Amino acid sequence: MFPESSNVTWYSYEDCKVTADWLLSYTSVRPLVGIVCGSGLGGLADMLKDQQVINYNDIPNFPQSTVHGHAGKLVFGTLKGKACVCMQGRFHLYEGYPIQKTTMPIRVFKLMGVQTMILTNAAGGLNQDFTVGDIMVIKDHINIPGFAGNNPLVGPNDERFGVRFPCMSDAYDRGLQQLAHDVAAELGFSAFMREGVYSVLGGPSFETIAECRMLRLLGADAVGMSTVPEVIIARHCGMRVFALSLITNQAVMDYDSEKKANHEEVLETGKQRAKDLEKLVSTMVSRVELDNNTLQ
Ligand code: HPA
Repeated sequence: MFPESSNVTWYSYEDCKVTADWLLSYTSVRPLVGIVCGSGLGGLADMLKDQQVINYNDIPNFPQSTVHGHAGKLVFGTLKGKACVCMQGRFHLYEGYPIQKTTMPIRVFKLMGVQTMILTNAAGGLNQDFTVGDIMVIKDHINIPGFAGNNPLVGPNDERFGVRFPCMSDAYDRGLQQLAHDVAAELGFSAFMREGVYSVLGGPSFETIAECRMLRLLGADAVGMSTVPEVIIARHCGMRVFALSLITNQAVMDYDSEKKANHEEVLETGKQRAKDLEKLVSTMVSRVELDNNTLQ
């Protein structure tokens, strides 16, 4: 019944429903907010109260997380009274999964009743005004793998999730972006809050200098290896989306630079700014408006 093998490239509505129903029978939490924790940012999940935790490898259909710094657990619980589900560890293209597999949990969240998705990631800063430790509210994205046909919506479209050709000009909810800036100001975080355009690449190699320069010319402020496929799937099925990047390193743009991007720096910055990011997201969650009309 479960498409376990790695050559499966997409999941049907029924496959996702089986997983969602299985999870709903596993947990008493009825999540309205879904959170995806980026590299080194898994601490967000630890803030949930009355936790019910399940490893990905115990969930029917779920891919397994292979990246160092990603735990591979689904955490249910409440954050300031709001029912949440948190992915502690996400799936990336560079792990070798077909793109539809990396985004499958987002559809499962939708079928569990999630209305609002909050996604976090670690990213390299392309905008020269950004510094390491900045938090960037994502206002738009550039989907580079999508240019080459690697979009999670490729394949048969099931109208029960959404339309064949979904709009992406409103992908990032304006109200939630404003909320992030308001909450950041209250918390005294404005000095390191930014907003900008996130560009996704397939990875796992970091970018060359020429690639970073190209991305900057295209209008990207930060570069990473995740989030965008999840955003596309979440918007396709009508969820509100908010996403932010922790700028963990400056992308190398200059041939005279001695700097080299590395995963350890990414994780180390995550550790240093993680508490602030957790505070920001948890305060936002406490203020997010939800309606009871879950399915569109
Ligand atoms: N490039 C791509 N992905 C990243 C980076 C980067 O510089 N930093 C964190 N994730």
